[in-house]
Amino acid sequence: MSVSQVEAELATPPRVGIGPHLLSVADLGADGIAEVLRVAEAFAEVERRSIPKVPALRGKVVATLFFEESTRTRLSFETAAKRLSADVLSLAVASSAVKKGESLRDTVQTIEALGIDAVVLRHASSGAPEQVARWVERAHVINAGDGWHEHPTQALVDCFTVRQVLAEGAKVDPATLGVSCFEGLRVVIVGDVRHSRVARSEVLAYSALGAEVVLAGPTSLMPANLDGWPVSVAEDLDDVLGSADVVSLLRLQAERGSGSFVPSLREYTAGWGLTRERVARLAAHAIVTHPGPMVRGVEIASDVADLPSVVVTRQVTNGVAVRMAVLFLLLGADSALEGLGSTRG
Ligand code: CP
Repeated sequence: MSVSQVEAELATPPRVGIGPHLLSVADLGADGIAEVLRVAEAFAEVERRSIPKVPALRGKVVATLFFEESTRTRLSFETAAKRLSADVLSLAVASSAVKKGESLRDTVQTIEALGIDAVVLRHASSGAPEQVARWVERAHVINAGDGWHEHPTQALVDCFTVRQVLAEGAKVDPATLGVSCFEGLRVVIVGDVRHSRVARSEVLAYSALGAEVVLAGPTSLMPANLDGWPVSVAEDLDDVLGSADVVSLLRLQAERGSGSFVPSLREYTAGWGLTRERVARLAAHAIVTHPGPMVRGVEIASDVADLPSVVVTRQVTNGVAVRMAVLFLLLGADSALEGLGSTRG
């Protein structure tokens, strides 16, 4: 994509409305996901410039509020906001007034009183971002992972990455594929689905785009009730690997007690880990995603994790462009881009 094409893409009014908040992939639907991927593609191009920064959100303030640990999501959102020229406030929860007993509501209202435009929230409680969205007056709320519920931007990153790999295979620009490339794609999500917010967001995203989603993992780590989920369940990973286009590996969520749902890590790995033997069963074009952090030797063998078909690092790289797109669509798309090229490299 040329610089002028990037400018044209970003200056185009949003094709579908996004917002005011991003709490769930369900807030987007297929059209919203397609719009995020379209805009992210333009920002991926901006990232390849020598000065990967645009003034799109100059004057806006983005606060990151992480009540749970994070490496990728937090850094990715903060990098994305800075590349859009927004100011970033990063609340260090461990050294904040939260430790003196201040409630989530008072914390959020205090931050909003500072004049912020967006709150990026990670919280151990499912539904916390939805609650915060009811308390704020004008700020946009973005769910950066809430309990077992959802991690919408991770699923968007995964879709973006899968499409990028498909486009490379077809030797075409990813933007030209739209989202039709997901029709009939077979995505196998493996592991601790029960405790995984990434799995829930991926199921919503991939199925909205027309992919076939298969869940594979020990019965004890499947959700208690799958009524209404647009998925099938594989009782044996080896039965479904050969037909997978995408394998999405999940981490055992030890912090949510998943260790007590399996007899031992060794048995888990024997049944559900992506070992050298299993990776050999994958089709040549199949790719493996993982939201990170990976636990080498448990859900994935250490040498498998470094294979070219495992696109974990690429997911992290793409996370910045996708989160730029989300921030831009929520905070800046209505005013379009003024002087996009002024900080062009
Ligand atoms: N994928 C993901 O959410 O990673 P972090 O916990 O490091 O943010």
